[in-house]
Amino acid sequence: MAETCIKESGLSLDRVVFYGRTLREYQLIFNFDHEAYKGRKVLDCPAGSSSFTAESVRLGVNATAVDPMFGKPVADLLEAGEADIDHVMESVMKSQDIFCWSFYPTPQALRSYRKTALSRFAHDYSKPESAERYVKASLPNLPFEDKSFDMALGGHFLFTYSDRLDYDFHLKALLELVRVSHEVRVYPVVGRDGRRPLFFEDLLSALAKAGVKSELLPSKFEFQKGGGEILRLTSQL
Ligand SMILES: C[S@@+](CC[C@H](N)C(=O)[O-])C[C@H]1O[C@@H](n2cnc3c(N)ncnc32)[C@H](O)[C@@H]1O
Repeated sequence: MAETCIKESGLSLDRVVFYGRTLREYQLIFNFDHEAYKGRKVLDCPAGSSSFTAESVRLGVNATAVDPMFGKPVADLLEAGEADIDHVMESVMKSQDIFCWSFYPTPQALRSYRKTALSRFAHDYSKPESAERYVKASLPNLPFEDKSFDMALGGHFLFTYSDRLDYDFHLKALLELVRVSHEVRVYPVVGRDGRRPLFFEDLLSALAKAGVKSELLPSKFEFQKGGGEILRLTSQL
């Protein structure tokens, strides 16, 4: 997919959206094999309205979702999720050329995936027995012990919002994810304009100095043109 996609301009959003994807999308985005993580601890941070945790727990993965919006009543999250689907879709409709319409053949298909994720998330979030899986917290400070997780998945927040989150925030947030997890995968590795942030090379150098190994891996998924890579981080810290 990546070779056929040529960047145009950027997706305009006026806020960090409470938005989320399904397990199927996470599997492709992060090259995540849920079978290999059965019984293992996986962090989705930030999760937004992703149904990754709801769906992967049912398949035997010990998943935890983190987002600053958690802790609110489910009705509030559904309202925020619906409003943000509308906000993103409005912007997508104005910038359709910056996306590869292969996985989602139409904007309607994209909206339908988002609605499915929100509804699966809300169903699980509203169950009393799920409460401990949905943790209210914000990067760069996570309420977990060192290496609590086997894998942390960070989708559509770091890099995506590099127009408003700076180098310091990215460095602290990535070091925090590495502190709590043996492996970290972040996607995409570009901003909403499809480009690496200017601080990218400095960020990798600072991570290397802190003992963190970084690798860019191809993802099986590219919707935003130029966004088909994963940043994989590992460390002995
Ligand atoms: C686009 S959503 C995440 C989507 C999800 N990971 C996915 O790929 O489908 C971005 C989320 O970042 C959350 N957020 C905003 N500031 C944050 C912070 N400082 N730390 C962690 N999450 C934050 C928002 O509440 C929002 O739900």
